[in-house]
Amino acid sequence: MKKILFAASEGVPFIKTGGLADVVGSLPKCFNKDEYDVRVILPKYICISDEWKEKMSYMTHFYMDLAWRSQYVGILEAEYDGVKYYFIDNEFYFAGPRPYGNIYEDIEKFAFFSKAVLSALPIIGFQPDVIHCHDWQTGLIPVFLKADFHENEFFRNMKSIMTIHNLKFQGAWDIRTVRDITGLPAYYFTSDKLEAYGDANYLKGGIVYADAVTTVSNTYAEEIKTPFYGERLEGLMQARANALTGIVNGIDYDVFNPATDPAIPAKYDARTFRKEKIKNKRALQKKLGLEQDDKKFMIGIISRLTDQKGFDLIAYMMDEMCQLDVQFVVLGTGEERYENMFRHFAWKYKDKVSANIYYNEDMSHQVYAACDAFLMPSLFEPCGLSQLMSLRYGTIPIVRETGGLKDTVEPYNEYENTGTGFSFANYNAHEMLRTVQYAMDVFYNRKREWNKLVDRAMAADFSWTVSAKEYEKLYDGLIL
Ligand code: GLC
Repeated sequence: MKKILFAASEGVPFIKTGGLADVVGSLPKCFNKDEYDVRVILPKYICISDEWKEKMSYMTHFYMDLAWRSQYVGILEAEYDGVKYYFIDNEFYFAGPRPYGNIYEDIEKFAFFSKAVLSALPIIGFQPDVIHCHDWQTGLIPVFLKADFHENEFFRNMKSIMTIHNLKFQGAWDIRTVRDITGLPAYYFTSDKLEAYGDANYLKGGIVYADAVTTVSNTYAEEIKTPFYGERLEGLMQARANALTGIVNGIDYDVFNPATDPAIPAKYDARTFRKEKIKNKRALQKKLGLEQDDKKFMIGIISRLTDQKGFDLIAYMMDEMCQLDVQFVVLGTGEERYENMFRHFAWKYKDKVSANIYYNEDMSHQVYAACDAFLMPSLFEPCGLSQLMSLRYGTIPIVRETGGLKDTVEPYNEYENTGTGFSFANYNAHEMLRTVQYAMDVFYNRKREWNKLVDRAMAADFSWTVSAKEYEKLYDGLIL
């Protein structure tokens, strides 16, 4: 039995701020259970809801040195959906209403977490062959592993993988403070190791010291070797090109299934969508106070409202797009200027725009089920999960050709009758507008073609089946 430990800062259903949590919460159960024992370790944040805290039980605790500090490390466990979870408890580090967000606190928090993950293993008696680390919060694990832990027999053959979900977030802070927190000697803070542009960089440490590096789509794996997408680490990505692969994300096909989804008013599948999907549109128009019209072209936007997702293009074009025969349903929170932008347009175009500036999982399913199209014009997108959810619900994605969007949405070709969505190449607001208009034209004037697009979208398979196999191959290659 090969043993794998996922180390991450978030995972559904326990705690989520973004797509990372969906991946960490849905991938582990998709491995072949006869060959792989995959477990997950997360921080036990105080802000985890009681519903999930009640499922955890105390295992043990110990004290750990973090440079000159000695810190309490509690370990809890839980089982969910056939997967074993461990939680690191420390009420000083994992306090607050949100799991993270202030970099000056997060830097020490995740140095603590990373070292605690390794220190806990001999105590709980789990000796993984591979520690699979996700994003900068766990970047110090490969570093600590090679720095001291490898000297201990228990850790000698342990390998590590660093998966980049978003290169923009790197966990960078001044070297003096990071040395004081981690106790790592000066040796580690040179430009071939943790140092980048004068700071200590956790993600860089993970990328340098991990035995393999992955990211969440093939296109993004290529893009991050270039200055535009490389977030100033393109040189490092080029240097590690031999160790770097792209493995596209999947989604949980049990949770996202229009045929069984308890959150949506009318269930449907690839056979029944022509009659049934429309009922979800009706229900949502009613619920949100939009004009009730089966035939209206309804576009969904579910997202963190940040620049990454292309909201400056939308802000620029929103007035113009609202002149078209469309409805927009927006769901999500984020930067205040975008929240206010959507509130403004919802006020200006009352029966065309519905701005839902909050997040709710059930509501997101209702929007995927109700809309005809889904707009996602990202500036960059390591993988993107919403377009996969849209495809699953027969909601046609309109995307920019970048990262995972390029790899998962096949552009409509009206001459060959192929494709699952609409896409445009350049980060340009008029290109986006023209693509929306093109989609609208097919929807209103070539309904049979549109329905065939939906057929192909719903037939696409972005469950974890294929990608879990790719990770298995990667693990096999590392385990001697
Ligand atoms: C991050 C990326 C997103 C990706 C997700 C899961 O949120 O921005 O593109 O799908 O991680 O890997």
